[in-house]
Amino acid sequence: MKSKDTFGSKIALVAATVGSAVGLGNVWRFPAETQANGGAAFLLVYIACVFLLGVPVMVGEFALGRGIKEDAVGVYRRLAGKTPWWLAGTLPIIASYMILSFYIVVAGWTLEYFFFSVTGDLFQSSSETIAYSWGEACDVQFKEKMTEYIQSDFKPIIFTFIAIILNLLILVNGVKKGIGKISNILMPILFIILLLFCCVSLSLPKATEGLKFFMSPDFSKITPMVCVNALGQAFFSLSLGMGVLSTSASYFPKDTKLVTTAITVSSLDLLVALMMGVIIFPAVTSFGLLGNELEGATLVFVTLPQVFSQMHFSEFWSALFFLLLFVAALTSTISIAEVTIKFFEDRFKVSRIKSCILVILPLFILSSVCSLSQGTLSHIKIFGYSIFDALDACSSNIMLPVGAIIMSIFIGWYVDKKVLKDEMTNHGEINSIMYPIVAFILKWIAPVLITIVLLSPLLK
Ligand code: TRP
Repeated sequence: MKSKDTFGSKIALVAATVGSAVGLGNVWRFPAETQANGGAAFLLVYIACVFLLGVPVMVGEFALGRGIKEDAVGVYRRLAGKTPWWLAGTLPIIASYMILSFYIVVAGWTLEYFFFSVTGDLFQSSSETIAYSWGEACDVQFKEKMTEYIQSDFKPIIFTFIAIILNLLILVNGVKKGIGKISNILMPILFIILLLFCCVSLSLPKATEGLKFFMSPDFSKITPMVCVNALGQAFFSLSLGMGVLSTSASYFPKDTKLVTTAITVSSLDLLVALMMGVIIFPAVTSFGLLGNELEGATLVFVTLPQVFSQMHFSEFWSALFFLLLFVAALTSTISIAEVTIKFFEDRFKVSRIKSCILVILPLFILSSVCSLSQGTLSHIKIFGYSIFDALDACSSNIMLPVGAIIMSIFIGWYVDKKVLKDEMTNHGEINSIMYPIVAFILKWIAPVLITIVLLSPLLK
């Protein structure tokens, strides 16, 4: 599957890669992880993971993608032939499917919140809440809505199914033309309205307290588990370790500077996450929710509507935000689903349509189970986690980093050094001072450091 098409312009190339990276990972998962892992301390480790490990691994994935012009599984097959390296290629297939099964549920929630913002139901308070003081009333109202929209049996499943069907339609009809174009227009709009929400949130009464939680680190809070979670979040948010980025890099033109692109994409992705933090945490302190034992979903689906209710035309801002977020989620679910679809197409030579159906159909069952595990099935625990959280933690915090370890060992030790060097210097056209650094990190730092981080919770 050689790809001769290349991206038209540099901006389109960065935009498409950012489109895969920016999604629910930044908006829903990042604030939830930050809250659960002690705030600023987590942020600090997260930023270190992004630049110390994320960027070099991304450059490595780009180099393999553009150098070999195949997706991750194909790369292993091409470069390592019949050796057991092909096993490394199967990890992304399993991990991506696990991610897809819970990610699509959250995509369904955003669609649901969009729908109920348009109908106005989200901002309609029930009469009992009037007895509370204003802040509490707001809190109770949106928590009730969350219980109804996310934890009930049927509502969320219906919207998840709509999200799955939309995915199927887009995947069958080709990704590049339709949704790719739409997201290139909508992504910048999402960015602009996030900026606006930042201003609203910063004007809330206890904004400084929230910012303090988010930005002033308490180093004693950095534990092995915090590091594992930060690492998993970095790989999840940057779409690393699954061959998604090597697939897009196979379309990069010859003169694209891989290091510059990796730094740009990672910085923009980080920026969106930071903006979400600046929106959420001032709101959390102002509405008195900090320190509560909150489920991950609460921040975006309870706290954010509270911010909207502070603005004129709440329904409009809320609808706009959740619509944009849903589009951002779609571009990500598509890129995740593509991993498995390509696998069936290439490996078993099934047609595109059959492969899409084969991948999407079981998703109806899996996502229903994930959705129910937020409510009716919440008593089923796997190592103390709900089914939803277990799938998330296992795929993001373990399988993605393990995929990255294998890939760095592959590039650092197995593949001819020339591949990385040629790609990083554009075949000698440019000087890359970063080459020795990235090569060293991929060979030594990434495998050793990621392994230490992954194993550290075991060494109690
Ligand atoms: N990075 C996306 C987000 O932050 C999710 C995503 C898309 C992803 N493609 C991926 C995660 C591949 C891991 C691997 O929402």
